[in-house]
Amino acid sequence: MSIIEPNPLLSAPSGALRVPKYPAISTGSKDCILFSLIIPTYNERDNITNVIQVLTKLLDSSIYGDYELIVVDDDSPDGTWEVAASLMTSYPQLRVMRRVGERGLSQAVIRGWQVAKGRILGVIDGDLQHPPHVMLQLLRAVEEGADLAVGSRHVDGGGVSSWSVVRRFLSRGAQVLGLIILPGVLGRVSDPMSGYFMVQRNSVAEITLHPVGYKILLEIIGRGNIQEIAEVGYVFNERVEGESKVTWKQYIDYLRHLIRLRLTTGHLERMNKRLNFPIGRFLRFGVVGFSGLGVDLTVFYILRQIFELGLTRSTILSAETAIINNFLWNDIWTFHDISSRQTGKGARLKRFLKFNVICLAGVILQALIVNLLYNVLKVNEYLAKLIAIAVVVLWNFWVNLKLSWRVTDVKK
Ligand code: GDD
Ligand code: MN
Repeated sequence: MSIIEPNPLLSAPSGALRVPKYPAISTGSKDCILFSLIIPTYNERDNITNVIQVLTKLLDSSIYGDYELIVVDDDSPDGTWEVAASLMTSYPQLRVMRRVGERGLSQAVIRGWQVAKGRILGVIDGDLQHPPHVMLQLLRAVEEGADLAVGSRHVDGGGVSSWSVVRRFLSRGAQVLGLIILPGVLGRVSDPMSGYFMVQRNSVAEITLHPVGYKILLEIIGRGNIQEIAEVGYVFNERVEGESKVTWKQYIDYLRHLIRLRLTTGHLERMNKRLNFPIGRFLRFGVVGFSGLGVDLTVFYILRQIFELGLTRSTILSAETAIINNFLWNDIWTFHDISSRQTGKGARLKRFLKFNVICLAGVILQALIVNLLYNVLKVNEYLAKLIAIAVVVLWNFWVNLKLSWRVTDVKK
C-alpha cells in the first residue's frame, strides 16, 4: 500500500550550466512534452499563486497536458518555494525547485531547463510584469519554426507602462553600450534586455553557458545555435506585489557579461584559441597590478613622510606590501577557480611564498633588462624602463600561472 505523498521538490543540478539534448527519463511520467516554462522567483510569495493560476488557465486552453511549469526559487526568505510547493497538489503540471547555495536569475533559469522535459524551453518573470497572453504568440512562433521567440518592448505593440525618464535612459544607454561592445549579439533583436522568451531545446542543448547576472537572453543569442528569431511586442506591466531586485550590481554584472561574451565568442575567441593565451585572466592580473602600484606608492609615502623611514627600507617595505596586496587579490579573484580547489592555510601559504619569490625575481629581471637596454643598446632610459616593466608583467603572469596557481595540484 502506498501513501499519497505530495510531490517532492526538485533538487537543483550542480556542475556546468548545460542543457541536455534529451530530457532525463523519469519513470512513471511522460518523458518528453512540448513545452517547459521556467518561472524564476525570489521573494514572490504574494505573486506566485496568481502567476501559476493565470499561466495554467492559458496553457490548459491551448496545449493541455503537454506542458509543465517549473518554479525555480533561490531559497527566498519569504518562503516563495513553500507557497509554490503547496500549489502542486492542485496543479499536477507544476514542479518546484528550491536552490540553496547558488543564487542568480540567469543561473536559476538554466538550472530549471536542465531538469525540464519540454522540446521548447521558456522563461517568464514571476511577478506578472510579463503579460501572460503574449506567451501563446511566442509559443506559436517557435512551433512554426523560429529557433527563438522574444517578447519585445520595442516593436509594434510593445512598450513600458510608466517608467521614469531615468530608467528609460539607463535601459537605452545599456543597450547602446551593448551594441558597441557586442554588435553581433545585441544587433539581432530589438529588445536584447528582455527576460521573456522561448527557445528550441536543440538550439541550446549541449552548450555550456556562462551567464552573469540578469540578462540571460544575451547568453542564449551569443552562444546558442540560433538562426531564425521571431519577436512579439509586449507592454511591460507595472509591478503590483513585491519589489524589483534590480540594483546597481545588475549594471556591473551586465558589463561583465558583455565583456565575457566578447572575449569568448566569435572571432576573438578563435584568435584566443589559436594563441592559447588566457586573456581574461591576464586582464584581471593587470587590474590587480595597478592596484598594487597604488598600494606601493601610498605606503611608500606614509613611511617616508609620517614615519620618516630611510629610502631603502621604505622602498622594500612598500614593495612587499604591494606584493601581499597583489597576492591576495590574485588569489581570491584572478585565479579564484584554481585557489578555490586548493583550500587550506598551508596551500595558500605555499602559493604566497612562490608568488613572492617570482615577483622578487621579476625585480631583478627588470634591473637586468634596463641595464641591457640602456647601457648596451643605448635605448632612452625611460623607454628602457617601460619595456622592462612590460616584459616583467608578462613574466610575473606567466610564471605565476605555471607555478603558483597550478592546476596540476588540484584534488579530484
Ligand atoms: N531564482 C531567482 N534568483 N529569481 C530571481 C532572482 C534570483 O536571484 N532575482 C530576480 N529573480 C526573479 C524575480 O522574482 C522575478 O520573478 C524575475 O526574476 C525578474 O526580477 P525583477 O527583479 O522583477 O526584475 P525586473 O522587473 O526589473 O526586470 C525583469 O524584466 C525585464 C524586462 O523584460 C527581468 O526579467 C529582466 O531580465 C527583463 O529584461
Ligand atoms: Mn519584475
